[in-house]
Amino acid sequence: MPRRKPTIAGNWKMHLDRTKAVELARAVRRGAEALGPGVDVAVVPPFVYLEAVAKELAGSPVRLGAQNVCEQREGAFTGEISAAMLKDVGCSFALVGHSERRHVYGEDDARVAAKLRALLDAGLDAVLCVGETLAERDSNRTEYVVREQTTQALLGVSADEVRRVTLAYEPVWAIGTGRNATAVQASDVHLYLRGLLSGLYDGQVAEAVRIQYGGSVKPDNAAELLNAPSVDGALVGGASLKADSFLAIAAAAPR
Ligand code: 13P
Repeated sequence: MPRRKPTIAGNWKMHLDRTKAVELARAVRRGAEALGPGVDVAVVPPFVYLEAVAKELAGSPVRLGAQNVCEQREGAFTGEISAAMLKDVGCSFALVGHSERRHVYGEDDARVAAKLRALLDAGLDAVLCVGETLAERDSNRTEYVVREQTTQALLGVSADEVRRVTLAYEPVWAIGTGRNATAVQASDVHLYLRGLLSGLYDGQVAEAVRIQYGGSVKPDNAAELLNAPSVDGALVGGASLKADSFLAIAAAAPR
């Protein structure tokens, strides 16, 4: 069974301006080239800077992703961006189901599933984010919540297609709070999700799909989290906005 290569992705959310985005992309590119091929590095800028960042990353191993996508193919959907448009400007993947989309913008599992379908149909990869709130964890509903989110989003996704999906376990209570899940907490959920994939598909598929952890990943907790069983990389928010901290996290991934 080939080892799953860790992926370290920086979700820039609604931060930076054009100049800073391009500078950060340049520094990430240099750092990723120095790290070598043992770890995949990706950046996820705001829509309006995708093209400028794509230019900066041209010919580099750093992958470009978008933070969101419209579930519709094209048409009168003011303010929305289609999967084909993302592909056109150089994205190879997009996030779906990020907790900020679910909890701030009210996206439900059906919408997340439709967005995932739109990406796969356009030939793009997807990062499917799942995770429980603190109240859900405190009432022992973590497994139920991530099971529902994952199962609903993957309805109708074939075994071939799911190989283009990366799961990102992002506990809502750990996002932007400075309070990361422990390596054991993260690993427990990742192993649960891998078992779930094994049931939905088969063991081979379950072993192939990457599961990233996200939520207050920083240089000082990265090594422990990234070496935990079944943790295949990180989806980094705040610490991805500075090249030094982002690259230190990438350097902590087992290679
Ligand atoms: P922080 O790393 O800022 O907690 O954000 C995590 C996240 O939401 C990545 O998608």
